[in-house]
Amino acid sequence: MKKFYVTTPIYYVNDLPHVGHAYTTVLADVLARYHRLLGVPTFFLTGSDEHGQKVQKAAQAANLTPQEQADQTVVRFQQLWKKLGITHDDFIRTTEDRHKIIVQQILQDLLQRDEIYRAEYDGWYCVACERFYTAKDLVANACPECHRPVDMIREANYFFRMSKYQAWLIEYIQEHPKFIQPDFRRNETLGFLRKPLNDLCISRPKSRMSWGIELPFDADFVTYVWFDALVNYISAIGYRSDEAAFHKWWPASLQLIGKDILTTHTVYWPTMLKAMNLPLPETIFAHGWWLTGESKMSKSLGNVVNPMDMIERYGVDAFRYFLIAEMAMGQDASFTEEAFIRKFNADLANDLGNLLSRLLNMLGRYTQGKLPAAHTPAPAGAEEQALWDTVQAAVTSLERSVADLRLHDGLGAALGAVKAINRYLEVKQPWTLAKQTDPAPLHTTLYAAAEALRVAASLLYPVMPEKMTVVLRSLGQTRTTPKLEELRTWGVLKPGAPVKDFGPLFPRVVAGEEQPPAPATDGPAQPPAAASSELVDYDLFSKLELRTARIVAAERVAGATKLLKLDVLMGEERRQLVAGIALHYEPEALIGKTVVVVANLKPAVIRGVESRGMLLAASKGEQLRLVTLDGELSSGAKVK
Ligand code: MSP
Repeated sequence: MKKFYVTTPIYYVNDLPHVGHAYTTVLADVLARYHRLLGVPTFFLTGSDEHGQKVQKAAQAANLTPQEQADQTVVRFQQLWKKLGITHDDFIRTTEDRHKIIVQQILQDLLQRDEIYRAEYDGWYCVACERFYTAKDLVANACPECHRPVDMIREANYFFRMSKYQAWLIEYIQEHPKFIQPDFRRNETLGFLRKPLNDLCISRPKSRMSWGIELPFDADFVTYVWFDALVNYISAIGYRSDEAAFHKWWPASLQLIGKDILTTHTVYWPTMLKAMNLPLPETIFAHGWWLTGESKMSKSLGNVVNPMDMIERYGVDAFRYFLIAEMAMGQDASFTEEAFIRKFNADLANDLGNLLSRLLNMLGRYTQGKLPAAHTPAPAGAEEQALWDTVQAAVTSLERSVADLRLHDGLGAALGAVKAINRYLEVKQPWTLAKQTDPAPLHTTLYAAAEALRVAASLLYPVMPEKMTVVLRSLGQTRTTPKLEELRTWGVLKPGAPVKDFGPLFPRVVAGEEQPPAPATDGPAQPPAAASSELVDYDLFSKLELRTARIVAAERVAGATKLLKLDVLMGEERRQLVAGIALHYEPEALIGKTVVVVANLKPAVIRGVESRGMLLAASKGEQLRLVTLDGELSSGAKVK
């Protein structure tokens, strides 16, 4: 592919941005980032649609001029894009001169070439949709789009000869199956084109609606908002102002839209371009709706999810990940915070975050915080080769998913690679290998896992640029963006390079119903509240049997997010304990640690698991650290 020009719809500035707007923009951003990584010259355009009745009405309600309304609201979109890490190359506002001038030039040209004419018209007008309908279009005497009542209006107007392009458009769509995607949307447009296509009314008398671009040939009219808005896709890249730039980028490679604006983009827009003698975009892709639970997200239903809230609570990258991973491109999807948390914990905290932390931990402990030598120029053994093959299959799948606009599939494959690395470590058990005298198997294992994680993180980088930069830095990479050509290369991580732990990547989210159980039964050791104020004599203290213990096994307690089941050695004795430390320690990270245990605590059964003793830990706010020994001492020693 020689270039990639991607656009989003330009958003109305009548209201604040919500998840639907964020989705289209994040999707475009992810695709733009993938193409940039592939070395394809990329231009990513977004912007705001500032004219028309919707904005005029919102301004009236807010007691502002339409321009003030636009100026205030556009900032909210721009702030959100900044927060979301959107890397657009341009942001066009339709009230800018650079756009208005081009719209007027186009109108003048089309009038001169008789593509536009003036006529008396009467028709059914929907105020909300700002569209005229014929009697045949109406459904139950109401607007076929929004089902609101319509008014009969008679007035002079200007019309674009859209009808004459009907046969051409049908043929074009049939001959270019990639032009409208997904396929079922192409059929929808072809279905629409089965009815006779009318000419398009492209003016509004100022007496009725004055907030728009004045017609260059009749000062009593402004331009219909869609005829103005669609032109943004070419005015922004230099149509009639910078021919070199324009020819570099046009025709667009991909125009992303929501399914609600299919007709305007697959009927009005291509016929406008045809009248201007311009080629059509390669692909117009209509995605589905974000629903809240089962129902459509809408302000009037009061179920709009504010993207800023989600970012505050869970971070930018997790939000970006959810949007792309949860919605199968083209289908509707449901946005609920419960689903968000579930996906966050499963994919990001458990699979990805845990993998990084356990790997860094083992590298810290077994190879002095450095990447071990990769003994071979290729994956060492059959298991390493199998892991690498899985990761390479994910690279192929992701590349294909970008080209086929099935990003969710590609992300699924990338997460599959992460899971495969976790499984590989479970099978290889580096903590067991660490006990062998020959360090080679341990080194091979840790290096193979780190290499595989490097590739997985690079694949996920366009979706989660901040966090994946952290992963790559943790693994000793110094570049800020990954190189895609290195995805297929084994041995990129430098043996001997220091690794760095920046702390938990995606700390697990504890949802409302998962609040921590009372510390007395389930939590780490906590001093009774009275301890700081009441003095105890030595006799009381000496009744506590505190002993050192070495952790030899650790695993999660099924169904309890905070609990770990531990096996400890105290001298010759092996004991099982349950400790409420799972949010703070990975099980593997505990193996080999010497901790302090209250050894004569009455046994308790916690969530069906027997606990014979309690670990000591210090906690403050959200933080918790185990009490460990400052140096070597055999287990079972008395602490006093
Ligand atoms: N201004 C027009 C577009 C002109 S493009 C030349 C417009 N603006 S809009 O702000 O109302 O919506 C723009 C886009 O936001 C929709 O097409 C869609 O891409 C996205 N979404 C708005 N609500 C949505 C959902 N609930 N779900 C998913 N996306 C939706 O239409």
